Amino acid sequence: MAFVKAEKIWMNGRLIPWEQATVHVLSHVIHYGSCIFEGIRCYKTQRGPAVFRLRDHADRLFDGCRIYRMEIPYSREEIEAAILETVRVNKLEACYIRPLVYRGYESLGVDPFPCPIDMAIAAYPWGAYLGKDAAEKGVDVMVSSWRRPAPDTLPAMAKASANYMNSQLIKMEALVNGYVEGIALDSAGYVSEGSGENLFIAKKGVLHTPPLTASILPGITRQTIVQLAQDLKIPLIERSIPREALYTADEVFFVGTAAEVTPIRTIDRVPVGPGQRGEITSRFQAEFRSITSGQTDDRHRWLSPI
Ligand SMILES: Cc1ncc(COP(=O)(O)O)c(C=O)c1O
Repeated sequence: MAFVKAEKIWMNGRLIPWEQATVHVLSHVIHYGSCIFEGIRCYKTQRGPAVFRLRDHADRLFDGCRIYRMEIPYSREEIEAAILETVRVNKLEACYIRPLVYRGYESLGVDPFPCPIDMAIAAYPWGAYLGKDAAEKGVDVMVSSWRRPAPDTLPAMAKASANYMNSQLIKMEALVNGYVEGIALDSAGYVSEGSGENLFIAKKGVLHTPPLTASILPGITRQTIVQLAQDLKIPLIERSIPREALYTADEVFFVGTAAEVTPIRTIDRVPVGPGQRGEITSRFQAEFRSITSGQTDDRHRWLSPI
């Protein structure tokens, strides 16, 4: 999907024209993946655009930077304000927001310390991530032959650009084999996550999701589903999930900022339950939509109006 461009991008404290938001080819980030980023959605509500779980995304950005010893030269409040401002100046009603903190241009040794910490925030229109019918019909996925990085290799809790080389292997393998997405196992062989989504299964009315120790990204949408499950009184267990539990589940769905709540209809060509969106998945989709569209009271204070 090609970009639908917006007008301005925030770069190191200034809003500049989209086309001018470039980095030097010898920047550290380009060679070594030294970047922590976020993916956030802003939704159209009756009261105007609103950013979903802004504080939680900012927290994860700061956590990732701390893990990689990157000191962000702005406060949390300044970053949140800059994100809201970037959406506002681009006059976007609904959009995807991509803040990134990266090691810039200074020297090219592996040692990242001499390089400046640069930051940018882009916002642009972006629709359904896994296809336009995915939310209703579900997607066909495979279990990847690629594993998520072991816990003592690349830290999964940081949303680091370098981790997405692994995600790309998972995604490409799925696509060239005719699937929409891949599910990766962790280094111990338990279910981890999709290339860009967390995952839940439902079995006999109980939800299961892999724990943080399964090399997953601590997803904000995952946290949202955990809270909504509590609100809807649907029991939920975080536990190691063996691969075969995917084939015997009643329902399996992906969750993520990009994918929102997307049902999975087949895994390795095995139908999930009856092979169509299940009741629990539909309930979460409806609840998620009504909160993000502002139709339901924002009881958890998840929306930041522009
Ligand atoms: C690898 C991976 N897992 C999970 C997620 C879902 O996280 P979130 O709900 O915070 O978007 C993403 C999306 O950013 C991701 O890239």
